[in-house]
Amino acid sequence: AGERGEAFAPSNIALCKYWGKRDRELNLPINASLSVSLAHLGSHTIVTESDTGADRVVLNGIEQSTDSKFARKVVEFVSLFRGDLQQPVLVSTENNIPTAAGLASSASGFAALMLALNQFYNLNLTDIELSACARMGSGSASRSIFTGFVEWQMGHRDDGMDSHAIVLDKPWPDLRIGLVKVTTAEKKVDSRAGMQRTVESAHLYQSWPLQAAADLEKLHLAIGQQDFMLLGETAEQNALSMHATMIASWPPLLYWQPESVAAMHKVWDLRAQGLQVYFTMDAGPNIKLLFQQQDEAALLEAFPELEVVAPFSS
Ligand code: DP6
Repeated sequence: AGERGEAFAPSNIALCKYWGKRDRELNLPINASLSVSLAHLGSHTIVTESDTGADRVVLNGIEQSTDSKFARKVVEFVSLFRGDLQQPVLVSTENNIPTAAGLASSASGFAALMLALNQFYNLNLTDIELSACARMGSGSASRSIFTGFVEWQMGHRDDGMDSHAIVLDKPWPDLRIGLVKVTTAEKKVDSRAGMQRTVESAHLYQSWPLQAAADLEKLHLAIGQQDFMLLGETAEQNALSMHATMIASWPPLLYWQPESVAAMHKVWDLRAQGLQVYFTMDAGPNIKLLFQQQDEAALLEAFPELEVVAPFSS
């Protein structure tokens, strides 16, 4: 192993969501998804040799207990690439994602870890291979290997090696993402458990792969033509369709809080007044706005605590 591996990977917001696995071992999705990476918001990870004779995991400067869920997931992932080297490692990660903005840190976390391990173990993997490997830590991490618009192709092979992300290389400088903090309430069911419950118990889930495939096509069109309305409408409908399958699960899975619904109505009211703004939501109560630079001032007025990200600013 080398002396040190160090990397940053951005968080990402899916415009067409990944929801449901066809293989839980290899973490293969039922549908393809498409996201936009969040530029400078994400995870910075350093991998070095551990000096204590045991694997160590540090998150935002705090040593994690070896039997915590987080440390176990990290060590399990490192072990996929350790080979015969029994050398214990120290993995240290800093997330600069605004706390409680409702952004998954598993996407940027596993992507940054994969990039750092590639250096540390001199794996010399290509970006495509890094994406397929990051996927095994967390599905959405396959997309966080890249910046800008990214598509995670579901793949069809049993070994999963064709299930990785690709970058679309279609910059859209005026695009803005707004992070709205609705509530800091901890989510009780994580994405992994949530999607499994949906696949197993919601008849409505049968329509999801069709919805996702149609939305993916629309998003490609929207991105190709920089058609903001098509992008926003597609992303919002896609998110609400995913949530419909969750609500139709048993026991029901409703991530929305009263504040989430209030924020949705606010977006719809603003839209009725002529503002081009849309939202998307993941497996939590917070909402993320999609808008264009020209409307940033109006949206900051409507949502004073909005955290604005310009995904294509350098
Ligand atoms: C709703 O990637 O966190 O955010 O593969 O089990 O780690 P695992 O799931 P994860 O799921 C993300 C679900 C989502 C939609 C998305 O980001 O595409």
